[in-house]
Amino acid sequence: MIDLGELAELIKTRRSVRKFQDKPVPEDLLLKALELATWAPNGGNYQAWRFLIVTNKGLITQMADAVKAKTELLASWPEAGQFGETVGRWRKTSDFFRGAPACIAVLMGKYSSIADQILRARGESDPVAREIRAYRQLGNSTLQSIAAAIAYLLLILHYFGLGATWMGGPQQAKKEIEQILGVAGEWDFVNLIPVGYPAETPEVRPRKPIAEVIQFFR
Ligand SMILES: Cc1cc2nc3c(=O)[nH]c(=O)nc-3n(C[C@H](O)[C@H](O)[C@H](O)COP(=O)(O)O)c2cc1C
Repeated sequence: MIDLGELAELIKTRRSVRKFQDKPVPEDLLLKALELATWAPNGGNYQAWRFLIVTNKGLITQMADAVKAKTELLASWPEAGQFGETVGRWRKTSDFFRGAPACIAVLMGKYSSIADQILRARGESDPVAREIRAYRQLGNSTLQSIAAAIAYLLLILHYFGLGATWMGGPQQAKKEIEQILGVAGEWDFVNLIPVGYPAETPEVRPRKPIAEVIQFFR
């Protein structure tokens, strides 16, 4: 077993990195990190995930342009006015990944658990089935599985001295990114992870004291 102190250090020193050196990321490191990430726990071990590794500068630029365009659209709506400062920050940062030497686009598949299949067969008319279906949609287990894999991935990239950021923001350009990467119907783009050698040392974003976020039922 590995040393707990070292593991804690790895976990606590990982940061979201948004500035990268102009230096390619070795493909074997990306592959190793992704291979280990796929050992994450996942619903039914169905592994309903795909990882598209994009190092082509032209494709990264196209994705960044698409995200930027959607950010500008959102920012132009009158409803955005009341969130001035945050929206201003988005406009500056939403496409920061254009400077990354690699981006991993994460795709989610359409896994249906046995419970999902029973609920679907039961149909809309049974109110209890409808209620359970709504709960399951809220805690979408495929998305939970993908989150587990990404958490592993980020840690392993950090172990390799690489920086990365888990980005949900690019979902706003889901359709465009799927077109750019030729993603077919049964897969959904859910997030983007720019990766590269860090060109910044981000400040630690403190966590809430553990007592604030736990509760024992003894
Ligand atoms: C689901 C999810 C979505 C995120 N989306 C974005 C994003 O779109 N852009 C971004 O810059 N950071 C994004 N982040 C990174 C968080 O801002 C970051 O993890 C958080 O501020 C804590 O900082 P740390 O990762 O350095 O500990 C996202 C993180 C998660 C888990």
